Amino acid sequence: SKVTFSFEDATKEGYDHFMIKEINEQPRAIADTIKYKMHEGDIDFGENAFTKEEIEGFNKIYMVACGTAYNAGIVGAYAFEKFAKIPVITDIASEFRYNDPFIDKNSLIILPSQSGETADTLAALRLAREKGAKTLVLTNVVASSLDREADKTIYCYAGPEIAVASTKAYTTQIISLYMLALDFAKKLGTISEDEYKNILEEIKAIPEKVKEILNNIEDIKKYAQEIKDFESMFYLGRGLDYSSVIEGALKLKEVSYIHSEAFAAGELKHGTIALIEEGTPVVTVATQSNIIEKTISNVKEVISRGANIFAICTPDDHLEEISNYAYILPKTIDALYPVLAVIPQQLLAYYTSNAKGIDVDKPRNLAKSVTVE
Ligand code: AGP
Repeated sequence: SKVTFSFEDATKEGYDHFMIKEINEQPRAIADTIKYKMHEGDIDFGENAFTKEEIEGFNKIYMVACGTAYNAGIVGAYAFEKFAKIPVITDIASEFRYNDPFIDKNSLIILPSQSGETADTLAALRLAREKGAKTLVLTNVVASSLDREADKTIYCYAGPEIAVASTKAYTTQIISLYMLALDFAKKLGTISEDEYKNILEEIKAIPEKVKEILNNIEDIKKYAQEIKDFESMFYLGRGLDYSSVIEGALKLKEVSYIHSEAFAAGELKHGTIALIEEGTPVVTVATQSNIIEKTISNVKEVISRGANIFAICTPDDHLEEISNYAYILPKTIDALYPVLAVIPQQLLAYYTSNAKGIDVDKPRNLAKSVTVE
């Protein structure tokens, strides 16, 4: 299936910036990343699929990347552990390559990279190959260095991502990793046919739900005005919600220069809460049903210290009764909430940057692809 990108893809198509264009392209990008991995109603990675025997030979998976690609990888890691029951070690590429990792011919190294040119990720791939591990690259750029040197490659089909702050690459990488994990699980028989079908149906329903979120941005713009002059702010979550806020904090940092820290909500009392005072902005993602009570009690802790809370939550847990802002997401299964919960966080970063008059597509000191170490 040949995919071509015409010139207009590289223009802003009437949007003020590439970042907001790419945020709004996510329904189409996610639909395409799903479409090109399906064949006759089933997941099919073609020549880039691993056989059942090969998958049975993997006793662990390493997920290695940088920045937002790493943040997508930690969400994807959840799917491999939950669906395919294979342990996943996630590591930042610039650490992995100097950590003398335990990799051998029974290891699969998955390397997400939007550009396919990140120096540390490329070095990690080469180290893995030297040690006899199998390598799979997940990239948005066909024929990039990582694509050409990997044993297997999966494409995101997100279309050119021009803004320095990565958005549609993150969501299409998560969807791609979830589909790969489902493929593994099906071949290993670690989930039932019904579970497989249900998760796949929920994945297919994501683009429409992203569209719904993109039409509901008034509260995000208001909160951006309230936080734009703060020096620092906090992102709070547990489990998959913690993985989600790690990306949200990076987005805000990159394009608004506000120091934002993501922390596991359970860690509050181990130090961080000393920093929360009257008016401190705190974004929380609270979607995981198995720990929602714990997250709500953490939200109450920071509210009692005067925090200004923007809660990204589900229709079930009524955080709107205690938060300054509650952003209710469309319903999906717990495993897929990170793909929805990141959208309001991307938009918050974008509108905060604009409110500060920063060039959101080209933030200071940053490059789109870090091809040097
Ligand atoms: C994310 O918004 C940044 N642009 C940066 O962290 C980026 O994700 C990182 O440099 C990895 O780039 P890659 O996906 O092209 O390898």
